[in-house]
Amino acid sequence: MTDLSLSSKNPIAVRADALVVATAKTSDGVAIVADHLPAELVTEIEAIAPQLGITGARDEVRKVPAGPRLKADVLVLTGLGERAQDGTFDPEILRRAAGAATRELSGVASAALSLPATNDAELAAVVEGALLGAYRFDRYRSSDDDGAKEPVASVEVLTTLARGAKAKAAVERAAVVADAVHATRDLVNAAPNELYPATFADAAKAAAKDVKGLKVTVLDDKQLAAGGYGGLTAVGQGSSRGPRLVKMSYTPAKGARSAEKVALVGKGITFDTGGISLKPSASMETMKSDMAGAAAVLGTMVAVARLGLPVAVTAYLCLAENMPSGTAQRPSDVITIYGGKTVEVLNTDAEGRVVMADGLASAVEDGHDVIVDIATLTGAQMVALGPYTAGVMGTESVRDDLKAAADAAGELVWPMPLPDELRPNITSKVADVANSGPRWGGMLNAGLFLRTFVGDTPWAHLDIAGPSFNEKGAHGYTAPGGTGVGVRTLLTYLETRAAS
Ligand code: BES
Ligand code: MN
Ligand code: ZN
Repeated sequence: MTDLSLSSKNPIAVRADALVVATAKTSDGVAIVADHLPAELVTEIEAIAPQLGITGARDEVRKVPAGPRLKADVLVLTGLGERAQDGTFDPEILRRAAGAATRELSGVASAALSLPATNDAELAAVVEGALLGAYRFDRYRSSDDDGAKEPVASVEVLTTLARGAKAKAAVERAAVVADAVHATRDLVNAAPNELYPATFADAAKAAAKDVKGLKVTVLDDKQLAAGGYGGLTAVGQGSSRGPRLVKMSYTPAKGARSAEKVALVGKGITFDTGGISLKPSASMETMKSDMAGAAAVLGTMVAVARLGLPVAVTAYLCLAENMPSGTAQRPSDVITIYGGKTVEVLNTDAEGRVVMADGLASAVEDGHDVIVDIATLTGAQMVALGPYTAGVMGTESVRDDLKAAADAAGELVWPMPLPDELRPNITSKVADVANSGPRWGGMLNAGLFLRTFVGDTPWAHLDIAGPSFNEKGAHGYTAPGGTGVGVRTLLTYLETRAAS
């Protein structure tokens, strides 16, 4: 993990391999956004920027020689794009610019960042972005022949706010958040021959061991079958590696306790072949990421405990591998979810909602003030919202609170309806409900299916099929592969609930 510190040093005098400052797009070209740099240097760079192809656009990172006026060796310019009307930059713009810069600094020992953060929230965004960008997944590389290097070893964020107690707290929180997001990405990026339900459960136990207030219990395949968890059992029965339900509870320290009890439920399909309703090969390529919801919940739990939030949270990780085999479930099987509702399995590739049903029903039984679930649930989510924006649906107030939390955290989430008119889509001819319906409104059909299992408990569902896995190149603070999406939204949501 990159070492991060705050400092009130002058950017001119700071000794570092690289000094990062921001550029912005203006009506007459590019501007260097750095108050403390020598005016002549700023004028020089602004004058040659067009010839160097530097525009100040977002996600543009360029290195130029720092020259004799600076103590740093290299000057790194990271683009913020255009200023908002009021002259400021959105915290998420700062987060991305910081991350884009650190991403370009792998192999570098020390960097100093001097970005335009004018308050503690903006400073926190810069710190968070810098840490989120300093990520690399190299567990399976036997050599560095691919040219990839270690993330930047240490980052000094230069700010006049450095000495404030609020700034220090913001940095501590950002470090916890970045740790949690990195751990989530690591799980998503893990190969599915290595990460399967039993080893995922082990990872949850290992993660909880180092933090105070977290308790983990694991139900294995035999206990699940005996206990009536028909969803996890049915989806997991096609695999030689049986399903698990991991329950993780966080109890705040005495005195710091609010009466609130929140449940987080995560989809953890460690590989989704589709089962007997087999996916085409191309659609399977990213399906090791079908446990990103459960990974985000695990990451969030560790962050919640490390930050000591005054709210009780219980996590339900619904873990199974969806494989086709002689023991696999078949289309038209009827199964009984935990709590007694029956499901006709019309399509074994709609397995996520089936394991989630067990998790939701179990959460309802335990009694919570609110349930939030997160799942890579439908391809239809990507059809509706594209690869970057998660859908959120459910009880209106919970849905809207999650949207607000996502906005504050800098994650893209958009509210979706659950119209009663669509409910007949999942009516079964033989059971209480069918696990799939027509293609149209596929994300909402899945949401309506989940709603069947939450009863009267306030609830919302995040569909992160698209944003959980970056199939393209790196951008902002996001590397290719697992993104860790959801952790920041869930954590911010819990912090807001705890505070109100
Ligand atoms: N894991 C998939 C959803 C998914 C697709 C996530 C693409 C990420 C990227 C899910 O289990 C699934 O297969 N859903 C089906 C449901 C259908 C059979 C009703 C889908 O979306 O096609
Ligand atoms: Mn599936
Ligand atoms: Zn799936």
